[in-house]
Amino acid sequence: MTSPRRPLTPQEEARLAQVRENFRQRKAISEKLNRIGKRVGVYSGKGGVGKTTVAVNIAAILAQEGENVALFDCDIDCPNVTRVLRVTEGPAHENGVFYPSSRFGVKVMSMAFFQENEEEAIIWRGPMIHNAINQFLTHTEWGNIDYMIVDLPPGTSDAPLTVMQTLNLDGFIVVTTPQELAALDAKRSINMIRKMNLPVLGVVENLSGSIFGYGAGEELADEMGLPFLGRTEMRIEYRDAKRPVIFESDAVADEYQHIASGLRKRISEL
Ligand SMILES: Nc1ncnc2c1ncn2[C@@H]1O[C@H](COP(=O)(O)OP(=O)(O)OP(=O)(O)O)[C@@H](O)[C@H]1O
Ligand SMILES: [Mg+2]
Repeated sequence: MTSPRRPLTPQEEARLAQVRENFRQRKAISEKLNRIGKRVGVYSGKGGVGKTTVAVNIAAILAQEGENVALFDCDIDCPNVTRVLRVTEGPAHENGVFYPSSRFGVKVMSMAFFQENEEEAIIWRGPMIHNAINQFLTHTEWGNIDYMIVDLPPGTSDAPLTVMQTLNLDGFIVVTTPQELAALDAKRSINMIRKMNLPVLGVVENLSGSIFGYGAGEELADEMGLPFLGRTEMRIEYRDAKRPVIFESDAVADEYQHIASGLRKRISEL
């Protein structure tokens, strides 16, 4: 026979309250995410291949083409999006809600807005990163968004894994440079995403040109059975750029229009 219901101990009450709070937060996040059309991560295992550059320029070109675009900087340790987008003004804040700043038609949220000092080191483990992303998701009012571009941290360990698991992304663009080693790392990245049963939307080759060569991105895409979304060359215009480079160079704008059109096509097919 089951014993009559006894009152809960304070510890059990606290645990129950925690479960309810987690449930409430997950529901609020999922309602928020439902108002965001497509969520696309920009990722590579290797650092410095141009993830942030590609994320910012894709976001800017989509906005220029008339889409409602959000750019979510999920490189919590080294948030660089605000630098590349040249946005200095943080989000407006009212009654516990953040209204993201907008620049070049792109709404942006980043840990960088909450650092007192840009050079400060943020050293967080997975659960804290998970918490920070959840806080951003819970408290940010994005409005209606067609595309959310998510800039991920490099690597295949704790930080990118946490972002992938927390954000429930629709798919990933994998960035590689033309060198063999970068392509090997990009292959690992693709395998990591696939292991998590998430779709890879395609490959972008960045820093192509006479110095690093051409072709590794296309070869990688072929080998992995993925669309090659396009390449973007290494160019002097990126140095000290005051705006995303699509606004500085017609050639770069053409490259990103091509990438964005491949991305739209791929998303519509999924
Ligand atoms: N096509 C390009 N031509 C010239 N410079 C570029 C190009 N793409 C990126 N860069 C430069 O290379 C550097 C690294 O780029 P970026 O920060 O976008 O890489 P990342 O992959 O996001 O790096 P991390 O792994 O640290 O997040 C930056 O200084 C950027 O301006
Ligand atoms: Mg980056």
